Amino acid sequence: MCWRKRIWRVPRTSGASSELFVLGCGPIVTHIDVVALAGDGIGPEVTEAVTRVLGGVASAYRHELTVRPHDVGWSAYERHGTPLPDTTLEACVRGPAVFLGAVGDPRADGLSPEKRPEAALLQLRRELGCFANLRPAKIDEQLVGISALKPEVAVGTDLVIVRELTGGIYYGTPRGAEAGSDRTVNTLVYTEFEVERIARIAFEMAGRRRGRLTSIDKANVLEVSQLWRAVVDRVAGDYPDVSVGHMFVDRAAMELITAPTQFDVVLTSNLFGDILSDEAGAICGSLGLLASASVGGEVGLYEPVHGSAPDIAGQGIANPIGGIRSAALMLSQSFDLQSEARALEDAVTTVLAGGLRTPDLAGPNDTSVSTSAFTDAVVEAVALGGARVGAASAEVSP
Ligand code: IPM
Ligand code: MG
Repeated sequence: MCWRKRIWRVPRTSGASSELFVLGCGPIVTHIDVVALAGDGIGPEVTEAVTRVLGGVASAYRHELTVRPHDVGWSAYERHGTPLPDTTLEACVRGPAVFLGAVGDPRADGLSPEKRPEAALLQLRRELGCFANLRPAKIDEQLVGISALKPEVAVGTDLVIVRELTGGIYYGTPRGAEAGSDRTVNTLVYTEFEVERIARIAFEMAGRRRGRLTSIDKANVLEVSQLWRAVVDRVAGDYPDVSVGHMFVDRAAMELITAPTQFDVVLTSNLFGDILSDEAGAICGSLGLLASASVGGEVGLYEPVHGSAPDIAGQGIANPIGGIRSAALMLSQSFDLQSEARALEDAVTTVLAGGLRTPDLAGPNDTSVSTSAFTDAVVEAVALGGARVGAASAEVSP
């Protein structure tokens, strides 16, 4: 039986040549090997959902799946006295891919900065060298009615925020309270190198999409933004097919809610990207829908954008879509499983089209379902899609 032909990518860490072409026929089994950091709040519920859908993908497409759980965030702090235990970091650095549910808990509010759950995530992003955070925000046609915007404004929104993730004010030093003074400091700093490498990711992506890049900064006030703008303009010379626009972040916040369809690829810094991606979530109908892939290093880090949402944690009502879509990004970016990633995306669309809604997506006339009921439906849709793929391939087999 010949049901699959594809290129098998050897991980760059192996020291072998980067690609080995598998030309023969026969099922090729990929080992989908994932470090799962459930974390805090709704993180465990969402991570369980993702584990189940990955199981569904693995069985529909006959791959091998290993999910290796590790502690992170407040839950790790409670167990180990640190939000990022060495064992967790070591597992993540080995990769090949990491899924993170969410970090953050109000009980950590009084802790010193390095013990807070968020510090674990920041350290992890930096240690993994994931400098490029890709956050697609495409409105589902079934959900236009629940957008925070009027349907005629929201419809057609399809953008990707390319957020610089390992620099800027999140990491700049000096930082913190100054001894013997009433001042507390954070530092905004970018090097040309950091701006150039994230800009290139955004230009490449724009070239594969609609060819339009909007770089967002605050160059009318901040010198760092002036550097950012100059570097983006220089890099633009290498991408003549991409049209580039610059926008100040305050204007961008307004344009995003008045005319979101003008945006294709949005390139921006760590802090601005954090803020604008929540806004993009509201445009799509719920922050629970948005996925992210953090790439640039040897290991990919995949997280839903929603955060730990402690107010609804443990109730079984979290929206698993952001997590599931992050898993789809993982299949495509870390394992080169393009059909499987598409199947997972399609399964979510099928379930939405069938009318199932978690409470955050439910309109006044919708009945809402639990996280696990929604997940069951996605797993079922994947199984049906997988069966169809198998059948179609079998037909063309010699
Ligand atoms: C995000 C989150 C994180 C960030 C927090 C949890 C540290 O808000 O991924 O958007 O600010 O990057
Ligand atoms: Mg955020």
